[in-house]
Amino acid sequence: MTDTGQAVSDNGRRGVEVVVEHVRKGFESGLISSLEDVSLRIEPGEFVSLIGPSGSGKSTLLNLIGALDRPDAGYIAVGGHRLEQLRHPARYRADIVGFVFQFHNLITTLNALENVQVPLLGKRLPRKEREQRARELLIEVDLEHRLNAYPGTLSGGERQRVAIARALANRPCLLLADEPTGSLDSASGERIMALLKGLRDQHQMTVLVVTNDLATAAAGDRTLRMRDGRVEEVDGSITPAVAPRSE
Ligand SMILES: Nc1ncnc2c1ncn2[C@@H]1O[C@H](COP(=O)(O)OP(=O)(O)O)[C@@H](O)[C@H]1O
Ligand SMILES: [Mg+2]
Repeated sequence: MTDTGQAVSDNGRRGVEVVVEHVRKGFESGLISSLEDVSLRIEPGEFVSLIGPSGSGKSTLLNLIGALDRPDAGYIAVGGHRLEQLRHPARYRADIVGFVFQFHNLITTLNALENVQVPLLGKRLPRKEREQRARELLIEVDLEHRLNAYPGTLSGGERQRVAIARALANRPCLLLADEPTGSLDSASGERIMALLKGLRDQHQMTVLVVTNDLATAAAGDRTLRMRDGRVEEVDGSITPAVAPRSE
């Protein structure tokens, strides 16, 4: 096994375990570290919400788990592989992780069907297959009727659903979503969370979602809170065991 991608396809399960151990991350601009000492564990297939005030380090943590940045101290292991030891971090990002952002980042000159295919362009996949996968994903996020629509003609919630379909195009084992409901009204936000939950149930990937409020976070199996550079469990949240699918 040369990297996480290999390990994940070997065990045949979609969700991966995420372990964060005593991670510290500071930026030169800040007087204090954004992440002082963060430790957490997410089970394979678990859906975890992360809340915390603006500037508390939620995005910093997501970027570290997505291998977009490196910790100053401590380590992160995904699927049993420590990220700093990956031989192909780019492959980890392209094959293992799906990312959804607050402002969807869709390409305005491409329609929904084309946007969803973007992560697949670098892969050796026949065009027809690529298109078919994008179509199926858009159907899954209830956008069957908007396949050819351009982002400018879609509502905020619809754009976010295209962004989610795009994040799933590479069939990720780990979906990281950074305030995907942050720019939506609460009803649309709730629908996005319910959609993510349904997609997790369907595909059994591990999901970590940053949300802006406790009510939205409650859609997850468990809620974590960033505070003073650390992550703590939010009391009263339930932690149902997530059984991997047996097939
Ligand atoms: N690339 C960066 N360079 C310098 N400072 C950063 C960078 N990213 C984040 N920070 C700082 O780290 C802190 C945490 O930011 P962030 O992780 O974006 O918080 P949150 O997502 O919870 O709002 C903030 O003080 C922010 O200014
Ligand atoms: Mg943020």
